[in-house]
Amino acid sequence: MHRRLTIAIDGPMGAGKGTVARLLANRLGYVYVDTGAMYRAIAWKALQRQVDLDDEASVGRLAAATEIRIDPTPQGLRVFCDGEEVTAAIRAFDVNAAVGRVASHPAVRATLTGRAREMGQSGGIVMDGRDIGTVVLPDADVKIYLDATLDERARRRCAELAAKGERVPFETVCGIVADDDDRAMMRTTAPLRQAPGAIRIDSTGRSPEQVADEIESILRKDPHVSHR
Ligand code: DC
Repeated sequence: MHRRLTIAIDGPMGAGKGTVARLLANRLGYVYVDTGAMYRAIAWKALQRQVDLDDEASVGRLAAATEIRIDPTPQGLRVFCDGEEVTAAIRAFDVNAAVGRVASHPAVRATLTGRAREMGQSGGIVMDGRDIGTVVLPDADVKIYLDATLDERARRRCAELAAKGERVPFETVCGIVADDDDRAMMRTTAPLRQAPGAIRIDSTGRSPEQVADEIESILRKDPHVSHR
């Protein structure tokens, strides 16, 4: 009996989770859910409203009252916050710098974890984030922990920003990525960890296609995997 799997991909900022998860979902005919986009949408809205990012109660209320929609399209995911498209806005430099603070609040995490978990119930899904294998979908069929060196991750983020016309010095981006690592790993609620049973893959110096190939070969070893 073939069944459609739940695949959890966790790892730090810039490890390539998003690109790999999207590629893999396309190949398998699965749905890709980017939970980072949900945290980014809340951070974007908090910045817009000039909410104090360190005020858990305020940011928590904001998260609970915000409707986030993620629409898959052939060009990638489109993200809407209360009906307004924020696909590009949530990748901006100021959101990169702010989102870790927003994501550290248990009240925010409780809201977004619940929503992500609902999306993950159906199977045939690739979900990426920081706590998918540990907290959101601990029963996922396959768990991947994707990592890369800090240098490479910062270079990728720099290139992503440059492609959108935001020229930020490498050292600045490196500082933000390192800060995001610290926040994600040190926070008390749902810290970034390799989940029990997760397979660690290092994407340094490898293309998204190569990483997706490796994950597919892991899936192929599972007799229950359906490739469509
Ligand atoms: O994967 P990303 O860079 O888009 O994630 C953006 C931020 O959201 C980052 O600070 C980590 C946080 N995040 C989280 O805490 N838990 C998740 N499941 C996904 C993202």
